[in-house]
Amino acid sequence: MKIIGIVGSPRKSGNTEILTAHTLKAIVEEGLETELISLAGLDIKPCNACRACAEEEQCPIEDDLFPIYLKMKEADGIILGSPVYYGSATALIKALMERAGQISHSSKETFKGKVGGPLVVARRAGHNFTVAQLTFWFEILGMVVPGSTYWNIAFGREKGDVSKDDEGMRTAWNFGKNVALVVKKLRA
Ligand SMILES: Cc1cc2nc3c(=O)[nH]c(=O)nc-3n(C[C@H](O)[C@H](O)[C@H](O)COP(=O)(O)O)c2cc1C
Repeated sequence: MKIIGIVGSPRKSGNTEILTAHTLKAIVEEGLETELISLAGLDIKPCNACRACAEEEQCPIEDDLFPIYLKMKEADGIILGSPVYYGSATALIKALMERAGQISHSSKETFKGKVGGPLVVARRAGHNFTVAQLTFWFEILGMVVPGSTYWNIAFGREKGDVSKDDEGMRTAWNFGKNVALVVKKLRA
């Protein structure tokens, strides 16, 4: 059983990566395998609506997306982490959501029944809207989204700040525990 955490910040080793790694650590403690994938520095273009994925499970855009899609398809759970940029998820994670989501939708719902959910970091505001944006993606693709002890948000501006947000870190940890719990029950 494997869970992947995809970090949609263009900033390597930043707050979203710290929060996602923390969540994955809680999952590892439950005996599941995990992998963190940072999108920082990768080339992931938005969907161009060519509809080639409606014909076969592929994407003709030659960039870094398709190998990540295949990892998402293999995983039992998918966590998407994003910082808030201008009140919204980043363009980077949105591009992945559009492309991977569209391939899944067009290819016999390959993400259906997986477990997952969002993780969101911001300096000050925009968390709830961004959590909703990400959650809508999980829901429309037929995935199961466990809760935590709060919404999966945390505060931080400079790299590392998020580690000082005790409640945010605890919420992410508890979310990881619930992801592991639900995956185990679904796969039992
Ligand atoms: C382009 C840009 C837009 C941002 N917009 C917001 C915002 O709307 N609300 C907010 O609270 N923080 C905003 N921030 C701050 C980031 O969300 C914050 O620094 C976060 O910790 C970055 O996560 P990272 O370290 O994973 O990159 C913005 C930062 C950047 C670079």
